[in-house]
Amino acid sequence: MSAASGLHVRVAAKTTEALDICSFELVGVSGQPLPAFSAGSHVDVMAGDKTRQYSLCNDPAESHRYLIAVLRDPATRGGSAFMHDQVRVGDVIQISAPKNHFALAHDARSHVLLAGGIGVTPILCMAERLAMMGAAFEMHYCTRSRERMAFHDRIAASRFAPHVQFHFDDGPAAQKFDIAARLAEPQPGVHLYVCGPKGFMDAVLSTARARGWPEAQLHYEFFSADVAPSAGDDGFEVQLASSGRIIVVPRDKTVVQALAAAGVEVQTSCEQGVCGTCITRVLSGTPDHKDLYFTPEEHAANDQFTPCCSRAKSARLVLDL
Ligand code: FES
Repeated sequence: MSAASGLHVRVAAKTTEALDICSFELVGVSGQPLPAFSAGSHVDVMAGDKTRQYSLCNDPAESHRYLIAVLRDPATRGGSAFMHDQVRVGDVIQISAPKNHFALAHDARSHVLLAGGIGVTPILCMAERLAMMGAAFEMHYCTRSRERMAFHDRIAASRFAPHVQFHFDDGPAAQKFDIAARLAEPQPGVHLYVCGPKGFMDAVLSTARARGWPEAQLHYEFFSADVAPSAGDDGFEVQLASSGRIIVVPRDKTVVQALAAAGVEVQTSCEQGVCGTCITRVLSGTPDHKDLYFTPEEHAANDQFTPCCSRAKSARLVLDL
């Protein structure tokens, strides 16, 4: 997060919403309105020495606060533990202005919102917005158990409660979400939105694609990614198109790290291939895509990649830098 994009906010409330999930209400340091945001937006949060992305989950009509929710995840690199253990009410923290990579399709005939676990955060914001617009939508919210379901009572008491079905992995079979049944047929003008753990998202997206849902009707946002190793992890070269300079990317460094060591900065945020901040155009060569940001079609075009995690299948990539 660049200093120029930074916004200082005060933690006005910190609330346990479910097992291992805390929400944080963020307000202007002197009570001033915050920049407007649209449904599906996230902010970058400086969590200690790390930057993490958290979706805004309050009503986008509100300008006096941002609400985020954080799952304590022992498998992550420490951002969630910092938020849970170190951040207190009254603290001032630095965030970015809202950004939206997961926007509603306003030309849709209707919307199907699918949330898994903490993935409810952007989905909740979308439900608020769609309810306010009087749009046709349904929302399915799946968690492992009731104790892990954040915002259950808020949703149950909301104006859009009739649009929502809750599903619990440890509940009776009849209430479980049947992905294959719901996505059995692509429906013209019906857009799907999915956010949650990678396994849930993979199940939804692979089912939708197998059943012929057009990519333009699929909307998704991954929280974090395990960057998988592959045969193309050996060293390779990148060439800067502007100067012709060639930089070697060794097998134990990312492209971003190799460029930084050579004095070439590429702005990053998630460093896991989920946020799109580092996208760089590829003028020649074949990237080895490891991100979860681009669609399959965008991967196949091979004209851009995420140098924070993606590598090369060819011996050299020429980058638009
Ligand atoms: Fe987020 Fe590269 S920094 S995709």
